[in-house]
Amino acid sequence: MEPVNAAIIYYSATGNVHTLAKAAAEGAEKAGANVRLRKVGELASAETIDANPAWGKHIADSADVAEASIDDLAWADAVLFGTPTRFGTPASALTRFIEGAGVLWRQGSIADKVCSAFTATGTAHGGQESTLLALGHVFYHWGGIIVPPGYTDPVQFETGNPYGTSHAASSGPPSDVTLRAAHYQARRVVDIAAALKLGRAAA
Ligand SMILES: Cc1cc2nc3c(=O)[nH]c(=O)nc-3n(C[C@H](O)[C@H](O)[C@H](O)COP(=O)(O)O)c2cc1C
Repeated sequence: MEPVNAAIIYYSATGNVHTLAKAAAEGAEKAGANVRLRKVGELASAETIDANPAWGKHIADSADVAEASIDDLAWADAVLFGTPTRFGTPASALTRFIEGAGVLWRQGSIADKVCSAFTATGTAHGGQESTLLALGHVFYHWGGIIVPPGYTDPVQFETGNPYGTSHAASSGPPSDVTLRAAHYQARRVVDIAAALKLGRAAA
């Protein structure tokens, strides 16, 4: 069987979600997937970015990450979206990208992908679940197969979020536990996508 194609598509202003996305990419690769780690394009004004030195620094530090295209979504058997929480919802840079998938939706080619999501907030109760559930709405509309991490691995009892890997930036950079959770989430997504791919090939 051909390996699973896993697209890890994220937005990150100051690097936290980028770090989670890299851990997820490692997890997906270790699980045997072909991986595309992609950032979505920036929407913020130069004035907004300049007001936060960490934002500009992250843009420079992540210059080598390719920008996501709709082709990456079309290619993927499994899609993991990563986004900071913005007022309890996904960042507009990611939702703009998602709206570009309308063309795939019209063609009927966005359905049946295995989908999952991860996020970072400023604070522990700043809306991680609401952001992840909002991305779940997208997956429902696509006819996606939503694969949350649940409490299906010991690391999930340490990190504590069954909806998707989540990080509170006020605690510093993502911890080892959070990175292991991102790694695990991606592995679980790839394993389930592989089982589906195998079943479909045999059907
Ligand atoms: C416009 C804006 C809105 C935000 N809204 C929230 C929020 O609702 N809850 C929260 O905890 N943090 C909020 N934050 C903080 C970000 O979620 C936090 O900085 C995040 O970890 C950044 O991830 P990044 O480093 O990948 O950009 C907000 C930040 C911005 C710029």
